[in-house]
Amino acid sequence: MSDIPRPRPGILEIAPYVGGQSKLAGHGEVLKLSSNENPLGPGPASLAALRALVSGNEGLALHRYPDSGHGRLRAAIAGAHELDAERVICGVGSDEIITLLCQAYAGPGDEVLYSAHGFLMYRISALAAGATPVAVPERERCADVDALLAAAGERTKLVFLANPNNPTGAMVAQEDVRRLAEGLPPTALLVLDGAYAEYVEGFDGGAALVEARQDVVMTRTFSKIYGLGGLRVGWGYGPAHVIEVLNRIRPPFNLSDLQQEIAIAALGDAAHVQRSRLENAQARDWLTQALRDLGLAVDDSAGNFVLARFASAEAAVAADAVARGEGIILRRVEGYGFPEGLRITVGTMGDCRRVVAALRRAVEQGA
Ligand SMILES: Cc1ncc(COP(=O)(O)O)c(C=O)c1O
Repeated sequence: MSDIPRPRPGILEIAPYVGGQSKLAGHGEVLKLSSNENPLGPGPASLAALRALVSGNEGLALHRYPDSGHGRLRAAIAGAHELDAERVICGVGSDEIITLLCQAYAGPGDEVLYSAHGFLMYRISALAAGATPVAVPERERCADVDALLAAAGERTKLVFLANPNNPTGAMVAQEDVRRLAEGLPPTALLVLDGAYAEYVEGFDGGAALVEARQDVVMTRTFSKIYGLGGLRVGWGYGPAHVIEVLNRIRPPFNLSDLQQEIAIAALGDAAHVQRSRLENAQARDWLTQALRDLGLAVDDSAGNFVLARFASAEAAVAADAVARGEGIILRRVEGYGFPEGLRITVGTMGDCRRVVAALRRAVEQGA
């Protein structure tokens, strides 16, 4: 086995990302609450755009390459969020923007920082780029700005911070995010991951900080509140010098016209976003309280999911098994440093009731 082709150092340290499961043996229909998807699905405007595109009325030409500059989509994003379209970059989910940032800014000998319970893609993308991932301890399951600042040094090239964070649902206050941006070494880029930003009423995801500085980037997605996880469209917003760098390595035809057009339609559907935000908040508050009433530890979440912590890893495994037995898929989060936890996507109120009923049975059985 010594003379076979080998990948670069770091690649074999990557544990392959395992997406939320969507099937259970023995269950025709499952309740999937493992990937933080919008239970309402896409809004009517996105579906209408899809139908029009597929029916051929909208001039979708599959033999033509798509718009590699994403001009109409960038303009629509900029219009909806009051941003500069020239400094928007679109990708195959925000995952691709995260990957491009690591590829462009971090390599062997460089460090990529993130908070200990941060999104798994930060570590994966850092290792894939040959850089060293550094998980910085949190305080009470929330990113600790002082610890991040203390860990940052001249080797630090990127610092990732998700607000709200997955899987904890925690938010770092804007003044602390600003303090982090101001205190990092001048050669480090701060990446504010706003995958769940729309769930927080009035939150700009960090856009104002991007506008104010030359070393802050924001990533966003259509996968969560827009209900389009399967479409694979995300975007980034940053200073011109960063966007220009990322565009040099972005695969030119990364998004099809179909993806771009449906995302544009979604941006015009403010009512769907508003409805999704309101229904999520109501169901999340109910779910949080109901889980606490079962004796589980649950922090307040700002996202469309909650993290329920059991007395032990064994109890979480047992509760997960009970839920599966009832056709409900939750997310084990040992990879995020919570072997005792289950992350539960906030579904409809009916979904939440089913989860609580299943977990009540699990607790009664000793989980
Ligand atoms: C914090 C965070 N960032 C980014 C993403 C990536 O999402 P996507 O690639 O679908 O935009 C996710 C997905 O779960 C996430 O939880």
